[in-house]
Formats: sequence, structure tokens, C-alpha cells
Amino acid sequence: MMSAKSSSQADVLLSIQNLTISLDDRPGTSPVVQNLTFDVHEGECVGIVGESGSGKSLSSLALLNMLPKGVHISGGQIVAAGNNLTQLTEKELRGLRGSLVSMVFQDPGAALNPSRSVGKLLADVLIAHSDLSREAIHDRSIEVLNDVGFPDPESRLKSFPFQLSGGLRQRVAIAMALVNRPKILIADEPTTSLDVSVQKGILQLIRRRTIDDRIGCVFVSHDLGVIAEVADRVVIMYSGQVVEEGPVASVLSNPKHPYTRGLIASAPNMTSTLANPLRPIPGSLPSVGRTPNGCAFQDRCPDKAKGQCSPLSPTWSTDANNPSHRWLCHSEVTS
Ligand SMILES: Nc1ncnc2c1ncn2[C@@H]1O[C@H](COP(=O)(O)OP(=O)(O)OP(=O)(O)O)[C@@H](O)[C@H]1O
Ligand SMILES: [Mg+2]
Repeated sequence: MMSAKSSSQADVLLSIQNLTISLDDRPGTSPVVQNLTFDVHEGECVGIVGESGSGKSLSSLALLNMLPKGVHISGGQIVAAGNNLTQLTEKELRGLRGSLVSMVFQDPGAALNPSRSVGKLLADVLIAHSDLSREAIHDRSIEVLNDVGFPDPESRLKSFPFQLSGGLRQRVAIAMALVNRPKILIADEPTTSLDVSVQKGILQLIRRRTIDDRIGCVFVSHDLGVIAEVADRVVIMYSGQVVEEGPVASVLSNPKHPYTRGLIASAPNMTSTLANPLRPIPGSLPSVGRTPNGCAFQDRCPDKAKGQCSPLSPTWSTDANNPSHRWLCHSEVTS
């Protein structure tokens, strides 16, 4: 979208290869995330989209090795700026969280300790990773608050989270994620709890920081309209698998997978008009661990009659004009 993606491998900051995530108590069932593979380059934002339960949050938590109890990485690797995160000890990972890779969560209220002022919250994060003087902590805090568009930061360092609006709280949470100058920012639905005008400001902010600070950003959303505003590339997930990925403009203007087409038709801010109302995708995701043989989307696919959706697994196809746009579907359906 706004920045041209380099095709060079030299500027890959985050490389996820065949990441597979399984539930501890369901051996033998299909993993909750299967063979997730994508790269994020410097100054690039990659969006992950899928409906509720498709595995977006587990995928993003796995990137910091912060999966909840009962869920584990069962395959693949995550390489962040040369560090293979799947092979590091918990202590080594703690050193990298917040400095190499930072995360912003959906609910800015829950992420901020209510008994700490804005200044203290930022100082806590800075002290955890460096040995700065009081003056340096103060200066860096003001600088990062300015970077995230936090108005009048000097006079608000003593404010507590409850004294701030939802949008300002999310700006503080983003400032905390950025204050140690991470190379990679993971944002899991960071605007979902905000109203639309505030949401726009936060999306612009993440976009700007990604470009100006040459960060690699992974932005998770269930909303393709949000991804269209913030991301360069998009990864579409269905039932724990990537079904389509490519440059945002190419995927949105020329969606290949029937699931992507369904998402576009059901995205409120993209297609709906009075004459052309939303068309939600009928049916629901397969239950956990019960992905059918063949294509995971077959039971809901409007094009099923045209394809050989089962029992063979679909294979990847690539857009002849745009080799980085690919999709996982039985070719009869999309040709
Ligand atoms: N701690 C857990 N234990 C067992 N299953 C889990 C756990 N966390 C998530 N799951 C299951 O894994 C699947 C993927 O969950 P995940 O939270 O990644 O989805 P999501 O795409 O982020 O959904 P949402 O849009 O609702 O946030 C879901 O079926 C969910 O029920
Ligand atoms: Mg989630």
C-alpha cells in the first residue's frame, strides 16, 4: 500500500516457517494452527485476518512464546532478527520481549497497571531493559509519547490510566511497546475496543511508526477493512491455516479463495451499501481439532460443486502477474 515492499531477503526481520500449534490434551487431532509461513520485512506491516477462532491470537502469542497453558508449539520455527525464538530459553526470551519484539493487545485498559502513572509505566519498561539515568528515562518517555501523538506529554506524565480516554490509553500502551525501540511489533486487534474515529488515528499511528522506525509489524484483525488501512501484505487464515496471502491491494481487488471473497462480502466498511447489503458467510468454523480431510473450508464453500474439495488437500496456486499472491484451493474452483 503506502510503502513499496522490498523483495530482498536481506531486510527480513521476522520469518515464520511452518509454525504449528497444538493443544496438549488432544494428541492425534488436527493442530489449532497449521504450517503458518510468512516473512515480515523492515518497514512492512503484515495483516493477519480471519474470523473468530481461526487461530490469530494463538499465532501472535506464539511469536513471543507466550502461549497460554494447554497449548504448545509442535512444529516449525520463528526467526526474529537472526534469533530462533523456538530454541531460546525462557530467560533469553524475557530479555527479548519488549526490546526486540513487542506486543500491543486489544484492550488498552487491561494492559495498563491502574496504580501506575503514565510516567511510571514507561519507566518500568525502560528500566527492565536498560540502565538509564532519571533524566534519560524522562527524555525518552517524552520522546516516545510525542511519537505516538500523545498530546501535551510533559504535563500528563503523572496521569493515571483511568484519567485517560480509551484512545489515549491505547496510545500509552503503544508507547510502552515502542519505548525500547523494538524491531518487531505484534498488534492483536489493538483497535477493536475503540470507536471508529479513534480507531483511524491508532491505525495511522501504527502505520507511521512502522514506516518511520523501519519496524516489522504484524497486525491481527477480524476486519479486512482495518487491514486495508494499515497493512502492506495480508495473510488470510481459516481454521488455523493460511488460505490466501499477498499484497493487500492485489488480494482485495482480485481475491482468489472463496473464503477471502466471503470475507470481503461480509466486511461492513468495504462493500455494503443499501443496494448491496452485507452477505455473512453461512455456517461456522470446524470445531477445534476437527478440520475435515481435504479443504478446511469445504463445508461452507459456495463453489464446492465446482471443485474436488475432498479428500485430497488443496495445493498452492500463484498469480502469474504477481508471484507473491498465492492461495490454497483446488484449482478447478478458481481457474
Ligand atoms: N488456552 C486454550 N486452550 C484450548 N484451546 C484454545 C486456547 N486458546 C484458544 N484455543 C482455541 O484455539 C482456536 C484459536 O483461538 P484464537 O484465540 O487464536 O482465535 P482468534 O482467531 O484469535 O479468535 P478471536 O477473533 O475470537 O480473537 C480456537 O478454537 C480456540 O477455542
Ligand atoms: Mg484473538
